[in-house]
Amino acid sequence: MDKFIIEGRYALSGEVSISGAKNAVLPIMAASLLWPDRYVLHNVPCLHDTLTMARLMEIIGARVVFEHNRMEIDTTTCNNPEAPYEMVKTMRASFYVLGPLAGRFGRCRVSLPGGCNWGPRPVDLHLMAMKTLGADITLDGGYIIAKGRLKGGAINFDTSSVGATGNALMAAVLAEGETVLTNAAREPEITGLARFLQKMGARIDGIGTTTLHVTGQKELHGTEEEIIPDRIEAATFLIAGAMAGDKVKINGAREDHLTALLGNLEAAGVVLKRSDEVIEVSRPSTLQPVDMTTAPYPGYPTDLQAQWIAFMTQAEGSSVVRDEIYLDRFAHVPELARLGARIRLEGNTATVEGPTELIGAPVMSTDIRASASLVLAALVARGTSEISRVYHLDRGYETIEKKFAGLGARIERVAEDYLVQKG
Ligand code: EPZ
Repeated sequence: MDKFIIEGRYALSGEVSISGAKNAVLPIMAASLLWPDRYVLHNVPCLHDTLTMARLMEIIGARVVFEHNRMEIDTTTCNNPEAPYEMVKTMRASFYVLGPLAGRFGRCRVSLPGGCNWGPRPVDLHLMAMKTLGADITLDGGYIIAKGRLKGGAINFDTSSVGATGNALMAAVLAEGETVLTNAAREPEITGLARFLQKMGARIDGIGTTTLHVTGQKELHGTEEEIIPDRIEAATFLIAGAMAGDKVKINGAREDHLTALLGNLEAAGVVLKRSDEVIEVSRPSTLQPVDMTTAPYPGYPTDLQAQWIAFMTQAEGSSVVRDEIYLDRFAHVPELARLGARIRLEGNTATVEGPTELIGAPVMSTDIRASASLVLAALVARGTSEISRVYHLDRGYETIEKKFAGLGARIERVAEDYLVQKG
């Protein structure tokens, strides 16, 4: 149980390199379960969640070797199509094995993910898709039991869902016949998954659009892949640079994956220098308030909502931030208030007053992105902040404190019981 000690108000400058994307590698690892063969993944981020997925795959029978951001996966030995509650309760993305296991084995047992402090996060769309592909789905002791050889079908998603699109896509590539997914998610992580499946021999048309056509195959094969850079990590550093930076260069920031954010940053008065996969950012003398509402890609990501709120505490005036994807994803608001932020929360809408001088204080992480917003706020706060439970950050950011220290931030990881000497 570690915490971060951050001394605020040190300008950031220099270069930072972005790691591979957590939300791209997790479904790709699961996809390798589809066919007994060997797979090699490069630029894999070393995160708690990557290790959890590797552990789950070993329980299913795979062999995983992970060193220096390179992962070798051997799924020829998989013989236990099951995802136990102990794994799924620690990471919802474990549910991504449902489609591949049902597709390969024609039967599997996958624990339902538990609750989440952002309110209900159902998996009804995942189950609807599996049923549409002909799986017999039952619930037994908190486990989804899926049985039956899959057949192609027409799957329409009422709500755009990254996870359900991923599971349906993986299940459809070995299903007999044609499958059409409509209102499918088109996040870069889904496009990355579809490209990986194509490399395995799958037939998928319409990649990058909301309509995907899949022609079921009898066989697939192993392959090799480079994981895309993490757009949420890149965006977090871009916002840090806009709050406290002086020519901060972000390597691995794919402009085409960040259009909504870059547009909002420029609307706030931030000057960006863009070149191939490198974006340079500095804090302008004044920041303009910019309202923001989250939406499925290419809209503004909900995974950047908390960071935008922290950013808007420094803007000249008030801004309205609405989350239309997760209506209760505001656990960071009371923590930011401990640093002096002025935020009024009504339902899924936060009104942020700025500019506010933030003052360092002890605060608590509650989830990956909420804790990232606390780090951003602490970087511009006067004095010392302690951010506890940073294991939340370790789930989604690779050595974030070392990366910020590399940009000149005064940030340190210490044990939870470490006492900060005041004055
Ligand atoms: C993915 O979660 C990401 N996780 C999340 O990032 C991200 O917040 C989310 O997409 C939205 O962008 C991973 O990729 C591992 P959804 P996922 O299914 O797939 C509703 C992070 O911080 N819904 O797109 O679980 C759901 O309640 C994480 O890295 C249903 O109603 O999200 C939500 O309102 C947090 N029924 C909306 O759809 C379903 O069966 C979008 O959820 C599925 C989803």
